[in-house]
Amino acid sequence: MRAEPQIRSFSLRPAPGQARLVPEPYPATPVWGFNGQVPGPELRVRQGDRLRIVVTNGLDEETTVHWHGLRLPNAMDGVPHLTQKPIAPGETFTYEFDAIDAGTFWYHPHQRSFEQVGRGLAGPLIIDESNPPRVDRDVTWLLDDWRLTRDAAIADDFGAAMDMSHAGRLGNTVTINGRVPDVFVVRQGERIRLRLINAANARIFALDFGDLSARIIALDGQPITPHAAPDGVVVLGPAMRADIMLDCPADPGTTLQIVDRAYRDNEFNLLDVVFDETPLRATPPEWEIALPANPLIEPDLNAARRHEILFTGGMMGAMVERQMGPSQSGSMMGGMMGGVVGGGMWFVNGVAAEGHMLDPFLTLERDASHILQMTNATAFDHPIHLHGHSFRVISRDGVPTEFREWQDTVLIAPREQVEIALVADNPGDWMFHCHILEHQAAGMMGVIRVA
Ligand code: C2O
Ligand code: CU
Repeated sequence: MRAEPQIRSFSLRPAPGQARLVPEPYPATPVWGFNGQVPGPELRVRQGDRLRIVVTNGLDEETTVHWHGLRLPNAMDGVPHLTQKPIAPGETFTYEFDAIDAGTFWYHPHQRSFEQVGRGLAGPLIIDESNPPRVDRDVTWLLDDWRLTRDAAIADDFGAAMDMSHAGRLGNTVTINGRVPDVFVVRQGERIRLRLINAANARIFALDFGDLSARIIALDGQPITPHAAPDGVVVLGPAMRADIMLDCPADPGTTLQIVDRAYRDNEFNLLDVVFDETPLRATPPEWEIALPANPLIEPDLNAARRHEILFTGGMMGAMVERQMGPSQSGSMMGGMMGGVVGGGMWFVNGVAAEGHMLDPFLTLERDASHILQMTNATAFDHPIHLHGHSFRVISRDGVPTEFREWQDTVLIAPREQVEIALVADNPGDWMFHCHILEHQAAGMMGVIRVA
């Protein structure tokens, strides 16, 4: 017999505030935060709990909260005009849903997210397994990227056409949990479960853990066969998460570095990892690191229906489309159109979403298995996110993936073709979009109906 779920209540109030992103002597930064914090408070529950979250809008504009990566009822998904009325200034909306999957998730507004998230509205949502693997410490790092002026204010150029049509709003200041990181103190032999969340509008991270041992145990909250990060590097597009088992093998007093290598001409030291003078143990523990499975339904690839999705547009888009040949090209003029927020610069199957588009471009038969073959015919990377479901990434450029990872956001490189597979078991109209928030705002989104 199943016990009644335990209800866990939280309240969140998005509002303008201040945060000390950069150390003195810089001034504090005017931000928008949840409950006066950047990032917002870590919401933490146990798998099987029921969350009840009262959101009161303290902004001067409408908002919503989306629970990124959670499989929840459509009406709780937090998409304005699609799943709910936006929350007006001063108004309250109560979200309530069950924590079906354990893992590392996050929350953020879905209303003008390129500005609301960009000003600081994002927070971690952690769902603990009932029997998590043993660790010495469980640490969450919400990574963010800010475009700051000389006096540490957020640059006011949200929605700039240049960002919209290129790689999105890249910043100049990276923070971990709302602070420019300095040092991370560890002990020899310590085992840390490190939960990485990329909350940046546009920045991709490629964190090189160097001589630390980084094994990936989950991506986007979903368990994966534990394996060493390829070349020690963990890649996270915007919105993506990774759970890392970090073992710290160096001698007391050692300093190591975690280096970001995502942009070749702009590698930087994220932080120093300093080994405390007192060792914890001589060698890393031999505890089991695999996570228990979540209740996901396995897609049947033989019976799956196939659907093709083509992404076009952006600067240099027309050029790449020409190289890929006209049959692959959705809109030859896609890259040539300038414009402002909402002006179509990016296209999903030839359509740039504008305003509150509510008509689905694709309907997936409920409870059937589906393969989405997605082609990136642009010159830019795109982290593509589907709401309400997790999917398996089954191939890249026709080559089966080694780990068949479950994700909710998949990073697709320029000209790459990625296949994902899922059982469409969650009825409703679901957003499907690029999580470079400037791309989303400039048309790179659509609605997928599960019915
Ligand atoms: Cu993290 Cu549609 O969003
Ligand atoms: Cu994109």
